Amino acid sequence: MAKGKTTSVFYCQNCGYESSKWMGQCPGCREWNTFVEETVSRAELKQSAGQLKMRSERLKPCVLRDVVIREENKISTGLEELDRVLGGGIVQGSLTLVGGDPGIGKSTLLLQVCRNLAAMKRKILYISGEESLTQIKMRAQRLGEFSDSMLLLCETELDLIADTIRDMKPEVVVIDSIQTMYSDSVSAAPGSVSQVREATATLLQLAKGIPVSVFIVGHVTKEGTVAGPRVLEHMVDTVLYFEGDRHASYRILRGVKNRFGSTNEIGVFEMREDGLAQVQNASEYMLTGRPEHASGSVVSCSMEGTRPLLVEIQALVCHSNFGIPRRQTTGTDFNRVNLLLAVLEKRSGLQLSGCDAYVNITGGMKIQEPAIDLGVILAILSSFRNVALDAGLMAFGEVGLSGEVRAVSMAKLRVQEAEKLGFTTCVIPAACAKEIQSTDKIKIIRVNSVQEAMDALF
Ligand code: TYD
Ligand code: MG
Repeated sequence: MAKGKTTSVFYCQNCGYESSKWMGQCPGCREWNTFVEETVSRAELKQSAGQLKMRSERLKPCVLRDVVIREENKISTGLEELDRVLGGGIVQGSLTLVGGDPGIGKSTLLLQVCRNLAAMKRKILYISGEESLTQIKMRAQRLGEFSDSMLLLCETELDLIADTIRDMKPEVVVIDSIQTMYSDSVSAAPGSVSQVREATATLLQLAKGIPVSVFIVGHVTKEGTVAGPRVLEHMVDTVLYFEGDRHASYRILRGVKNRFGSTNEIGVFEMREDGLAQVQNASEYMLTGRPEHASGSVVSCSMEGTRPLLVEIQALVCHSNFGIPRRQTTGTDFNRVNLLLAVLEKRSGLQLSGCDAYVNITGGMKIQEPAIDLGVILAILSSFRNVALDAGLMAFGEVGLSGEVRAVSMAKLRVQEAEKLGFTTCVIPAACAKEIQSTDKIKIIRVNSVQEAMDALF
């Protein structure tokens, strides 16, 4: 423990803002009630200012031309879905944060990555502060054979871990999880902002110094952020979030920050008996179990990074028994759906104000892209009129407040994805690229407004 007088410092649990007094609202991120008290000694406070100073042999600035990029620096994880989110593979000396709810499969994913890398004879160190060796072994047995080049360590003390890493010089290190790690030089409890920050800073130095690629597991709080989150997000190179319904079997890995690639990419996995399996054709997966000839079901297309993803939108519109109709959405923005309901009411003269409306994106996907607006509108119409739309129909387009259907990006890719999955009709915004033409496989209907789409389909 560091010597010297101890003082209390208040940290915002959300963004890591530091204050000497408690405050109701954080001036940094404007969140309420996020300050917690942590005791630190004066020596620590001084030290933390110089914490991030990286150790390097010689300070010698160089010109950009002299910097060599070696492609082989990226190590494939053996999981294509993960490689894509990482921007091609693990970069040497990178620090990656994998966040997600408890039980979503973070440990499983990383153990599988370790298994793949160890099979390629790479030196791996898996450090767990949460599970015992027996527990890890039990999990590993479900995943299959492990090569001996993966070593395990159950430890939470950071200085010991750092020494081990320096001695062993592995290529990849997994820290499961950052909230369990603690350093003697910080007096706050493990999981607190100052501990998490200290631990990450130490790992950052190790990662860049040796170099070793480090994966950090971070738990997510109820609000959906990693505890002490933004502090961590700033420090690491890559932030990945593992999401999905715990009760459904698929999982989505999303890049939130990436210094080595696009952040829009997603990886889709399925949790099976023997670990996580990659889902190559996500659209097909999302559409399995779609009801046939049911009203209120329409397929639309959203872009997830560079990949088009077909999703089923379901709507249920029924007579309301109360004065105020009930509206509920799952997987899409509530306010956006309300807005679309208002557009339908005003521009198409539908009497929706006396109706309850429920809109659901099946498969538990969360979609924010306005390109699915037209799909939502058609699903609501189909349910309202109780008319099932053609099962081979796919519709996308952004809907504006005057009921116009506006162009969206990458229309061609979306149409191609629909064609690949055997869809026969596409309703697209009229303003989309002219080269998208009907073929003998797929019929293209171009619409300027919601009214035109209604006339064409109902
Ligand atoms: P885990 O990786 O422990 O989650 P996290 O580290 O994010 O907290 O995932 C645990 C869940 O995954 C648990 O509910 C059981 C399930 N699971 C399987 O379905 N199949 C498997 O092969 C494994 C290892 C876990
Ligand atoms: Mg775990």
